Amino acid sequence: MTTTLITNIGELVTNDPEAAEDGRGLLGVVEQAALLLEGAHVAWVGRAADAPAADQLVDAGGRAVLPGFVDSHSHLVFAGDRAAEFAARMAGTPYAAGGIRTTVAATRAATDEQLTSHVARLVEEMRRQGTTTVEIKSGYGLSVHDEARSLAVARQFTDETTFLGAHVVPEGDPGEYVDLVTGPMLDAAKEHARWIDVFCERGAFDADQARTILRAGAAAGLRGRLHANQLTYGEGVRLAAELGLVAVDHCTYLSDEDVAALRDSGTIATLLPGVEFSTRQPYPDARRLLDAGVRVALASDCNPGSCFTSSIPLCIALAVREMGMTPAEAVHAATYRGAEALDRDDVGALLPGRRADLVVLDAPTHVHLAYRPGVPLVRQTWAAGRPL
Ligand code: NIG
Ligand code: FE
Repeated sequence: MTTTLITNIGELVTNDPEAAEDGRGLLGVVEQAALLLEGAHVAWVGRAADAPAADQLVDAGGRAVLPGFVDSHSHLVFAGDRAAEFAARMAGTPYAAGGIRTTVAATRAATDEQLTSHVARLVEEMRRQGTTTVEIKSGYGLSVHDEARSLAVARQFTDETTFLGAHVVPEGDPGEYVDLVTGPMLDAAKEHARWIDVFCERGAFDADQARTILRAGAAAGLRGRLHANQLTYGEGVRLAAELGLVAVDHCTYLSDEDVAALRDSGTIATLLPGVEFSTRQPYPDARRLLDAGVRVALASDCNPGSCFTSSIPLCIALAVREMGMTPAEAVHAATYRGAEALDRDDVGALLPGRRADLVVLDAPTHVHLAYRPGVPLVRQTWAAGRPL
């Protein structure tokens, strides 16, 4: 197998969990570093001066190298856009879950080819900004046929596909719709999905409905995740903790009981600061969660309604500026914790055996992602040992 040595790395973020424990810092940074790739995987990391020989040499020019971003929450399968809704919001109209139905109509009217090329464009946009693993949800089809085809489209781009038939009730009686989601829709969706998600929120589904839907998903072999506590306080976060879900996403409005439940369950709180940026809601308090011992991940939530950014660098900058995270915590949350939020141990770190998914920044340190907001700092993204 061909070996490639990336050398002259000014700062290498490894996310070595042992580094955090023995005082070398959360990111396991190695300075003046090198990284040996063997095929699609990392074979060795260390100081450039100690690097082994390799077939090919790549000079990083003193730049920072980070694990590729793991975006554990996105809704890329849709048609149309809602720029007018965004403009109205910026003129004072509050965000409401019901806007989802606008996108449902456009998505149902789109062909498979249109949906596929639109997802391809967004995935490419993400890659250019350093994302190497992305979770993609359905949730704008909301019929048996349109949810199944949305997931089939998503599956062409990632293994991390999530059935979100329970996004809103598209039309008709809510009880009948829950029966549809947990019955024929789940049957049609399950072969294309790894996860099942519910939008547990005022205007969408309550905690009892969410429990019913997640239980049905589990019986069909899908693992649960949840949108909760985005627009108001509610029972969603505690439900996620009670069910031992790997992650619960949004977590904007949290009581002390919610924070304690996250800490005790080990459920990851995935924060989505692009949403608060784009809805003018208050940002979630990452500092409070981290200080309580809760694991925090960051993701984009890229969708046409509440947040149409695909940029993890933007989310990192917002998390640092607005949510009390240090640059190191934010980078860790968008890489290592993102991988944990998808229950993946093959990505999210640059350590021997992990997949060689990485980002070369046009900057000397990871801090620049927050220090130079809005600047396209991702020089190159590598996936499975190859530059894209
Ligand atoms: O994660 N919260 C629910 N779903 C999306 C928004 C969907 C929309 O407005 O289209 C979100 O914010
Ligand atoms: Fe979402």
